[in-house]
Amino acid sequence: MTDLASVDRRAALDGFGALAPQAPDALLGLIALYRDDSRAEKIDLGVGVFRDDAGLTPVMRAVKAAEAILLREQESKSYLGPEGDIGYAELLADVALGRELARSPRIVGVQTPGGTGALRLGAELLRRALPGASIWIGSPTWPNHAPIFQEAGLQARAHRFYDVASAQIDLAAMLEDLEAAAEGDVLLLHGCCHNPTGASLSTEQWQSITDVCAVKGIIPFIDLAYQGLGDGLDEDAWASRALFEALPNALLAYSCDKNFGLYRERVGALWVQSACAEQSEPVRGNMLALARSIWSMPPDHGAAIVRTILERDDLRNDWMAELAEMRNRINMLRQMVAQSHPGLAFIGAQRGMFAMLPIDKNAVTSLRAEQGIYMAGNGRINIAGLSKQNMSNFVAGLAPHL
Ligand code: LMR
Repeated sequence: MTDLASVDRRAALDGFGALAPQAPDALLGLIALYRDDSRAEKIDLGVGVFRDDAGLTPVMRAVKAAEAILLREQESKSYLGPEGDIGYAELLADVALGRELARSPRIVGVQTPGGTGALRLGAELLRRALPGASIWIGSPTWPNHAPIFQEAGLQARAHRFYDVASAQIDLAAMLEDLEAAAEGDVLLLHGCCHNPTGASLSTEQWQSITDVCAVKGIIPFIDLAYQGLGDGLDEDAWASRALFEALPNALLAYSCDKNFGLYRERVGALWVQSACAEQSEPVRGNMLALARSIWSMPPDHGAAIVRTILERDDLRNDWMAELAEMRNRINMLRQMVAQSHPGLAFIGAQRGMFAMLPIDKNAVTSLRAEQGIYMAGNGRINIAGLSKQNMSNFVAGLAPHL
């Protein structure tokens, strides 16, 4: 006689039979591959974290100080609600959007678990508001962008953006592809420090994109994950602010992973601008309802750190000073790489943590296997993983492939 418990168990197991096997995330997989490599000369240019000259990803001074304050002064860890830390979102809005926009009655913002949480929450909101909308995503981009939107039920469509061989943004091709966009479609943009290319749009190119959005009724969704690591806090945010000022609707997903060095704490925010102030309350209500059903409430510790830093002048100034040191180190390394080989000269004019090497997958694999140089499969390098000590080994290993 078949016992019912085992029938139930078999049925339950079969219930997952439709799931296709998943390859582990290739970018995050590099962390373990690098860790398990015993070669002393190995170079980690994989996942995008800031590194100092010793190859470490330090906790920022202001973060340490804020944590000490929280340890001393925090009196409760009780729930805050789906909006998270309101003071955090308000203070961060000044940093991201500037004081004037941050006070606009047309803009609402909430804390999210990291920039990924902000992108996902924005995607879910768009699915509710504009069910048939497509999201246009430039190629290449961060490999997690398309899955975030697709999992939320949006149709992801690719447009051309950057030509790796010539190391140039191809704006004409991008605008040509966007001719197929419909009113109410969404355009994903990197606010600064493009991941993976490092290529920066000029003021004129940003203007052309703004014009296309205005004429076609496209909504920009800006991913701002590296503010302060390109040219400066305001410089890296001007394009996002200009899009918000010029267009009726816009979204901004923000990450504090890199500019506060809070990676694993998962600290982000989403701001949404509506065409008129009356829409703000429904937008906010839907954001909170969606947040409640996805993560209920965002994790507090990292956001409390950022709030503590931003509400105290001494900590804020020290954070900005250390951020400038990080930015200067990345830009100094860019110049060193650019001067090391004519085939790498393009890297000097780019910004942020990343650059894409004009090499193929075989070269990426052979650099890893033979030289212990780790980078993403598409040839993306994390510039911050370079140092004065490993620069010559990097260039010598790479040169035969250029
Ligand atoms: C990266 O692009 O390396 C980082 O943003 C880490 C990640 O989550 O992929």
